[in-house]
Order: sequence, then structure tokens, then C-alpha cells
Amino acid sequence: MFQLTLCILKPDIVRSPHLFNVREIITLILKRQFIFVKSKRLQLRRERAGEFYREHQEKFFYSRLVHYMSCGPISCHILGRENAIKEWRSMLGPTKVYKTIFEAENTIRGQHGVTDTRNCGHGSDSVETAQREINFFFPEFDIQSLSKYE
Ligand code: CMP
Repeated sequence: MFQLTLCILKPDIVRSPHLFNVREIITLILKRQFIFVKSKRLQLRRERAGEFYREHQEKFFYSRLVHYMSCGPISCHILGRENAIKEWRSMLGPTKVYKTIFEAENTIRGQHGVTDTRNCGHGSDSVETAQREINFFFPEFDIQSLSKYE
């Protein structure tokens, strides 16, 4: 089924002098038959980062995560393709970067991830989450216009 998902390339990837990694990752995404429906580059305020990750607010890594996600620009994209949610998460690799050493060296996190928090990318984990996350970053985007791309 055709789906949309939210892709975030996190500050380590976007920050100069690593900016070339954004181009490399975008090329990989295009090779996997995704379309870029909408893109924007922005820097989150601390409060906005906290809101985006509010489901993790009880976790030990929450303040570290919020600090990291607001420390520099991020690159946000609405990606579309068949099974976009699963496919983008599989390109990213495991959330915990240490796991990439054993099972997913050739994923984006395996190549560019630094720690479990600084894991270089984000992908929505369900259709409901994708809708909420797309709306968070692209409130002007009418998600019902999905039928245009089917
Ligand atoms: P992301 O896919 O953006 O979703 C939640 C984020 O929390 C995750 O990527 C990591 O950046 C961070 N995270 C998840 N688990 C851990 C962990 N065990 N330790 C530190 N950070 C984590």
C-alpha cells in the first residue's frame, strides 16, 4: 500500500562539515524508489523538541535527546512509496546504534550513527504516528491529498 512517512536527518548529519552526508542519504533514498513529497530544513527550539518526543518524557535519555535534537539544524522530509514506513525504518537500521555492529552495518545508522541518542535519523513507526509527525512539521500539508499520489 502507498504510504507517507516522516524522515528526519538529525543534527550530526546536517551540520557542516558533514553536510555532504545529507546529499549521500538523499541519493540512497531516491534509489530505493521513494518520492520526496515535501522537505524543509529547520532548527527546533528545546520546547518543540520536547513536544515532538513527549512519549519518551519518562525515559532516562529524554533530556539528552531533547538537547541533541535542538542543538542544530535538522532536515525533515515527507517520503512516499509502497510500505514507506517499514522501508524507511529498514534503511535506517536499528534505533540502538551498537546493534548495527552485529546485524546492520550497511544501514544509514550503521554508517553514520554515533550513539543510541545521536543515531542520525528518525522514521515514523506506524500510520497513526506518521500522520501526527507529518502534521507536527508540515501543518500546512493536507494529508488527505495522499490520494493524489496513489
Ligand atoms: P528516534 O527514532 O528519533 O526515536 C526516539 C529517539 O530516542 C531515538 O531515535 C534515539 O535518538 C533516542 N533513543 C532511543 N533509545 C535510546 C536509548 N536507549 N538511549 C539513548 N537514546 C535513545
